[in-house]
Amino acid sequence: MHVVKSVFCTPILVRDWGDSADLNQRLSKIILEKEAKAPTVQRSNIGSWDSNKDFLEWPYAEVQQFKAFIVDAVREITFKATKGKYNPKPEDMFAHAWANVSRADSYRKIHNHESCTWSGVYYVKSRLVKEKCKSSGNIEFLDPRMLCIATELPDSNFGGRVKLLPRAGRMVLFPNWLHHYVNPVEDKSLRICIAFNVKLETSSVKRRMNTMCALGGVS
Ligand SMILES: [Fe+2]
Repeated sequence: MHVVKSVFCTPILVRDWGDSADLNQRLSKIILEKEAKAPTVQRSNIGSWDSNKDFLEWPYAEVQQFKAFIVDAVREITFKATKGKYNPKPEDMFAHAWANVSRADSYRKIHNHESCTWSGVYYVKSRLVKEKCKSSGNIEFLDPRMLCIATELPDSNFGGRVKLLPRAGRMVLFPNWLHHYVNPVEDKSLRICIAFNVKLETSSVKRRMNTMCALGGVS
């Protein structure tokens, strides 16, 4: 055998939904109306508005349409990440989501997401960034191999960052534990997105649950 293997790869799905302009316009209106009525929830967002994590329960047909986007994307990344061994059904998926509205100077501190399987973001409205502010509103992922930064090897991918553009109609899906942040929005444009977490109840999770008993009522 004579091979250089690439190991410990991290999947990130980037999917641009064509024909989503009308849906995005309606979602923008729904989200902005909600923003006008509710105070922000404080998470890693600085200067921007976050909704509660109940977005998927908002009573609109557009939200149902968005759920179908999540199901499709989760199937795609899961199938790829398991080398075609697991193609999850919608019944295996549990999700929550929250909307975000960002204006000039707002950003997101470095963070990862709570316990689940996949996390993601979908950009509802985002003007492409001008030449002079190339990083404005971009999402950036850090190399999860924490000690890589100590490797002195120019042009390798050890310790690098992956920067993705927030285009309207784009969904980005990644493992929940992957650290990321959002650069400050540098221009005056409005950016609206929906973030979400998906937990997969795989057969091994269900099997493990079947070996456990509830401890409620024990004092
Ligand atoms: Fe995030």
